[in-house]
Amino acid sequence: MSLSHSAGFPHVVITRRVPQHILDYMASAADLQLWEEDHPIPYQTLLDRVPGCAGVYCLLTDRIDAALLDAAGPGLKVISQMAVGVDNIDVKACTARGIPVGNTPGVLTETTADLALALMLATARRIVEAAEFLKAGQWQTWRPMELTGQDVYGCTVGIIGLGRIGTAVARRLRGFDCKLLYTNPSPNPEAEKLGVTDVDLETLLKSSDIVTLHCPLTPETRGLIGAGELALMKPTAILINTARGAVVDQKALFEALQARRIGAAGLDVTDPEPMSKDDPLLTLPNVVVLPHIGSASVATRTRMAQLAADNLVAGLQGEHLPHCVNPEVYD
Ligand code: GLV
Repeated sequence: MSLSHSAGFPHVVITRRVPQHILDYMASAADLQLWEEDHPIPYQTLLDRVPGCAGVYCLLTDRIDAALLDAAGPGLKVISQMAVGVDNIDVKACTARGIPVGNTPGVLTETTADLALALMLATARRIVEAAEFLKAGQWQTWRPMELTGQDVYGCTVGIIGLGRIGTAVARRLRGFDCKLLYTNPSPNPEAEKLGVTDVDLETLLKSSDIVTLHCPLTPETRGLIGAGELALMKPTAILINTARGAVVDQKALFEALQARRIGAAGLDVTDPEPMSKDDPLLTLPNVVVLPHIGSASVATRTRMAQLAADNLVAGLQGEHLPHCVNPEVYD
C-alpha cells in the first residue's frame, strides 16, 4: 500500500498491517509505504525502503539499528514502535541522532498482568496437562491425588521488576492472599502501600513459590535468570516470564525443569521467537509456553496500534511524542 499525496508530504515506512482505521489516520498525515506480508519485513528490505523517510512505524520483530538510521538519512524524525519493550531498537543510536522513539506503555498493562496470572494458574494447577490428559482419553475416574498441583492462593510470589505490569500483577495477587516480594534496580515508592516487600534477588529466589519476571530486556537483565539463579529456587518453584525471553537462560531452564530442580515454568516469551516446535522445553509436562500473547486482547492491541500512530504523527509534526523512551532528545 502506498498512498500518494502532494509533494512534500512526509514518507513513512510501516512494517506490518494494523487496523484499517489506524492506517487511515496515519495516511491523513503521511504517505505510507506498508509491508503487506503477514511475517516480518526482512532487514534488507527495510533498509532499502527507509532512505528519505520521515518516520518508521515498527514492531518488536524489526531490528532498528544505527545502519538503518543512517540509511534513512537526516530527514528521519521519529521511530514509533507498537510495543512497550524496545530492546529491538538501538535507542542510544536514535538519541545520538536526535530521533525520538515512541512506545506504547500503559495501555497493555492490565492485559499483560492478566496473562501472567493465567500462566501462574495454568502451571500451578496443571491446567494444560489436565486438559491434554482428558483429550487423550486417560480420565478413568476421580482419584484423590490425580493431577494435584499447587495453590496460588496464599503462596509467596517474587516479582522481578515492580514497574507498571509488575504492580498490576501485585494488585491481582493481593486478592489471592499472596505474600509479595519484589526486587528492582531502585525501590518503588508505591511498594509499601501495595504490600510488596523489597528484597534482594537472592532472597526473592530462595523464598518464592512463584517467581514472575516483569523487567525490560537490557544489557543488565540479559541472562538474569541462569543456572545459578535457578539453583537458588525452591524445588517446587514456578518461573513465569511475560517479559522477554532472553532474560532467562533457556538451556539452563530446560535442565533445571528436566531434573526437577524447579517445579514448572510458564513462558509467554522465548529466545528466539518464534520458538521451534521441536524445542526440548515443549517435551516437558511441567512447562506451558505461549506465542507471545501477553497484550493480545482485541481492545489492547487496537489501543497499542493507535498509540503508536499517535506517537508517529506527533513526531512527524515536530511535537513531543505522547510516549517517548528517550525524552532527552528534547533537551
Ligand atoms: C510486548 O511484548 C511489548 O513489549 O509490548
